[in-house]
Amino acid sequence: MPVFKRLILYIKPYWWRIALAALASAAYGGFDAAFAYMVEPLLKKIFMTKDMYIFSFLPLVIILIFALRAVCRYLNDYFMNTAAQLAVQDVRNKIFKNNIFLDLKFFYRNQTGSLMSRIVTDVAAMQNGVGEIVSGIFRDAIGLISLLCVIFYRDWQLATISLLIIPLTIYPATILGKKIKRAARKGQEEAGYFANILQETLSGIKVVKAFSLENTKIEQFAQANLKYYSFNQKMIKYSSLSSPISEVITSLGIAAVIYFGGMKVIANKMSAPEFFSFITAMALVYSPLKKLIGAYSNAQRCIGASERVFEIIDAVSEITDSPDCHALASDENRVEFDHVYFKYQDDYILEDVCLVAEKGQMIALVGPSGGGKSTLVSLIARFFDTTEGQVKIGPYNVRDISKDSIMSHIALVDQETTLFHDTVTNNIRYGKPGSTDEEVIKAAQAAYAHDFIMEMPEGYETSIGDRGVRLSGGQRQRLCIARAILKNVPILILDEATNSGSSEGSAE
Ligand SMILES: Nc1ncnc2c1ncn2[C@@H]1O[C@H](COP(=O)(O)OP(=O)(O)O)[C@@H](O)[C@H]1O
Ligand SMILES: [Mg+2]
Repeated sequence: MPVFKRLILYIKPYWWRIALAALASAAYGGFDAAFAYMVEPLLKKIFMTKDMYIFSFLPLVIILIFALRAVCRYLNDYFMNTAAQLAVQDVRNKIFKNNIFLDLKFFYRNQTGSLMSRIVTDVAAMQNGVGEIVSGIFRDAIGLISLLCVIFYRDWQLATISLLIIPLTIYPATILGKKIKRAARKGQEEAGYFANILQETLSGIKVVKAFSLENTKIEQFAQANLKYYSFNQKMIKYSSLSSPISEVITSLGIAAVIYFGGMKVIANKMSAPEFFSFITAMALVYSPLKKLIGAYSNAQRCIGASERVFEIIDAVSEITDSPDCHALASDENRVEFDHVYFKYQDDYILEDVCLVAEKGQMIALVGPSGGGKSTLVSLIARFFDTTEGQVKIGPYNVRDISKDSIMSHIALVDQETTLFHDTVTNNIRYGKPGSTDEEVIKAAQAAYAHDFIMEMPEGYETSIGDRGVRLSGGQRQRLCIARAILKNVPILILDEATNSGSSEGSAE
């Protein structure tokens, strides 16, 4: 089970928490066995020899055992769950770190909402599973084993009878586990769809209002939500079945033991206290057994979620640096398109494009919407690779230049004026992290943004929303231009950045 192995790898760094929790759970499991074992001598002392001294201490001892057991339980749960939480935090960081470096194709293929849902809900499902599986393995398995020891010590024949039913419980558990895993995976996919609807609706709320799409969106959301429910309903059906089924089957074991054990007591082959000690251990055995079976179905759910998570952790970029890639000279800015062909899917968007932007030249591309202007400039930044022909910066094909070097030569102001939830000054400073306030102001002045920034309530320190909602479209563009100017690079690409409405892109 490679998925399971990978999960273990993530848990490994937190081994001492697991070890501590395991110790505590071993003690916890041991207490149950000790309790079951002590039933026999206690009953003998109290009811047969009528030992008052032991009898008077008994309540105290019982309270003490359960108090110690409670402490162990707490230590186990605390350390086990924090270990799972920490491991899953690493998984989340890993996804984010990996994904943010993937090329744009990945982000066009996977919708924002479904990616978010993987990072949030799938990882949460993983986390619940990991915690339960690991504590299940330690606490319940150790409890089970020590109780089994008591059972076999008391009477191996009866023990064998009672254990015959264990294989009976495993079969339905594996069948249910498979069904649970499938339903969990489908459900998580469905969660991705409705996260998409949510994300699109909320980020496009203005359009939703302007076109009175509220009811349409409500309908879409409700439908996606219902579908999500239908898979969850399946999962609930199967996982709720696992306990009752195992209880019915275990009752067979208990019935058999009471029958055969009772016969033995009647025939004087077993003492009554021994019989009760056995029954106590038996009753206690089924609880960890049931929990282990439950942990198995949780494991299936967890593996379903983990598969989805690992899928995107494993996603790789198609566009990567070649091993012998070059770095550009610091002022290199000659851009050449040499018989470039490009298609996203089947139809060519660019055919046989030849174009040279010499040093110091400013080039404007004019054409209808969808004509391929944005596509053309995105090839300079190597957001996509050409289908045929080559794009060159200076002497090199962009495929032979390191991505870092390309990006340090290009500043891009896109049609989508992206501002982050931060102050004005920090939004501009993303162009050149570490730049001084003076540099930021100079860039803002060059982009004709300084005046309106100064009129804002806190000037450069004004916080702007995640989509810069308090700014006009033109103001947002100017902040983005200021950011590009601050970057101070040889190649400046403005994609419809200077005038919203006109179709103009230019490379300078
Ligand atoms: N990520 C993409 N995947 C598939 N097709 C795309 C993608 N981006 C743009 N296109 C298509 O490429 C064509 C050119 O788009 P674009 O370069 O944005 O035009 P312009 O910027 O000139 O308006 C359009 O037909 C558009 O549908
Ligand atoms: Mg465009």
